[in-house]
Amino acid sequence: MKGGLMSGAKPQELAQPILGVPAKSAIYLTVTVRAGSEQAVREGLADVPGLKRSVGFRVPETGLSCVTGIGSRFWDRAYADLPRPSGLHPFIALTGSVHTAVSTPGDVFFHLRASQPDMCFELARQLMLHFDGMVDVEDEVYGFRYFDERDLLGFVDGTENPEPPVDDITAALIADDPLYNGGSYLVVQKYLHNMSAWDALPVEEQERVVGRTKLSDIELPDDVKPSNSHVALNVIEDADGNELQIVRDNLPFGRVGQSEFGTYFISYAADPAVTEQMLTNMFIGNPPGNYDRILDFSTAVTGCLFFVPPIGLLDDPESYADLPAEPCKSTNSTHSSRTDGSLGIGSLKRSGQK
Ligand code: HEM
Repeated sequence: MKGGLMSGAKPQELAQPILGVPAKSAIYLTVTVRAGSEQAVREGLADVPGLKRSVGFRVPETGLSCVTGIGSRFWDRAYADLPRPSGLHPFIALTGSVHTAVSTPGDVFFHLRASQPDMCFELARQLMLHFDGMVDVEDEVYGFRYFDERDLLGFVDGTENPEPPVDDITAALIADDPLYNGGSYLVVQKYLHNMSAWDALPVEEQERVVGRTKLSDIELPDDVKPSNSHVALNVIEDADGNELQIVRDNLPFGRVGQSEFGTYFISYAADPAVTEQMLTNMFIGNPPGNYDRILDFSTAVTGCLFFVPPIGLLDDPESYADLPAEPCKSTNSTHSSRTDGSLGIGSLKRSGQK
């Protein structure tokens, strides 16, 4: 399919399978592309949907899916003939008074989801065979659904995601950039939890860290919920009071022998500035210094931003090369996407990009 400019299709018809995918299992694969393999990887990415079909067709009820994201530096190396997506830039590292959001390498990202782990594993294996000698795996995480959608801190994670079939599309998919309609911006961070410190907190105190009750998953009343709770700092609005949302699909991961207990944070947004404002609130604080208390128990060890192109671009990038570039407007048209990722709320200190 040609670019959104030509097709007149709805964003969700142009998008990769970002939304509505029920996943009990996921593999998050971050790879870098070796020098000299740029063109081969660009061509190889067109084969990913076919590989997904080969693996998934045999057990269709597992709903195997794959979303592919492209990092800023790889875009410059492999897609320089195409108009650059306006929100694409390296993940912006943030240094707060206590905690840091690191920026780590990532050229291409594969988000594999299915209801069974074997399906994700087989597709990951096929992808690595397909790109053998062209890429190096920087990070590989196996996520699993844990009881009733809980993270390893014991809280239900995902409740306040924008609801399908309208709010999730609006939040996640570019809808008013004719060229890249159906695209999205993906931000990922791998967090490791300090479980002994967390478990030492009484449940009532844990609830004040998150901003919701643990067992019943009810949001704390405003007069009880601390301003440095995770929920308080992640409910953000534009200047007109409209809530700005992202679509998250976090999953836990871990290795008991290594005492590794983590949350893989993964989010899709039509405008990366929304996710970046949340990260700023969490790490720098809102106001600065009032940082997210969940970070006292959770350390971000990776951080990457990717453009998730409409599916037609991966299939046939050349068809986008001769289309006129249009300014990429935000779906949340009430705010602008700044190059530093800030929505301009508060006074924010940022460290340099890595
Ligand atoms: C250690 C990593 C993280 C954990 C364990 C975690 C866990 C949670 C939990 C338990 C909730 C409450 C239930 C829900 O609505 O989903 C929540 C809400 C939320 N989180 Fe996180 N989260 C993490 C990182 C992040 C990051 C990095 C962001 C943004 C950049 C983020 C954005 C949000 C948002 C937007 C909400 C919904 C707020 C609302 O509307 O009530 N989270 N998270």
